[in-house]
Amino acid sequence: MRFQAPLFISGKTMELQNQLKQMAAKAALEYVVEGEYLGVGTGTTVGFFITELATSGKKVKGCVSSSEATTRQLLAYGIPVCDLNDIVDYLPVYIDGCDEIDGNFCMIKGGGGALTREKIVAQASEKFVCIADESKVVKQLGAFPLPLEVIPMAVSSVSRAMEDLGGHPVVRDFITDNGNNIIDVHGLQIKEPQLLENAINKIPGVVTCGIFAHRGADVLLVASEAGIKVTK
Ligand code: 5RP
Repeated sequence: MRFQAPLFISGKTMELQNQLKQMAAKAALEYVVEGEYLGVGTGTTVGFFITELATSGKKVKGCVSSSEATTRQLLAYGIPVCDLNDIVDYLPVYIDGCDEIDGNFCMIKGGGGALTREKIVAQASEKFVCIADESKVVKQLGAFPLPLEVIPMAVSSVSRAMEDLGGHPVVRDFITDNGNNIIDVHGLQIKEPQLLENAINKIPGVVTCGIFAHRGADVLLVASEAGIKVTK
């Protein structure tokens, strides 16, 4: 892929980031198993992936979608969407982006508010292929505010519980596909992602938190100006 000037104004521009997202999305086509079901995540990187899939000529039996937005895009391209409950055989691959990913393939997800359905489809899949531009790779999770999907009546109590854990909760002006709220928790230093995922998921009213540590990625495709780096 070509990079068009000017790419740098102050730091990397969004245009470059989108080009990198598109590169990662294209590289993920290799992991699509033709004639099988495919799990599809949510976000701009996945948006590029859906366009690549539609124009690739690769045919899947159907896609299990992680959000209404993804469903709309898939259907607009004529790609069949199926309910996870209707899949009796297996789901070999799930392709999704992330907000942060560490060296153990633990992630923060949910920047787009689709974390619960994403976690469900990821868990049901044999292989999670994460597609990202290089800005998403971190040493330690937590610089990106951690999204939690929360039952509306529990927004205040969950916010207080997150303050007790040292976070700064901010309620997002957003309603999820499941009719719930999102709380973005700033200021967490996530040293032990699995333990924190357990602890937050136990708070009454939390549907799930955006730490994907118990079900992390299996393959990471990171795009940089040097090309695609594949890590397994
Ligand atoms: C949505 C997500 C996305 O994967 C994450 O926010 C990355 O999005 P983008 O590809 O737009 O950078 O978890 O809930």
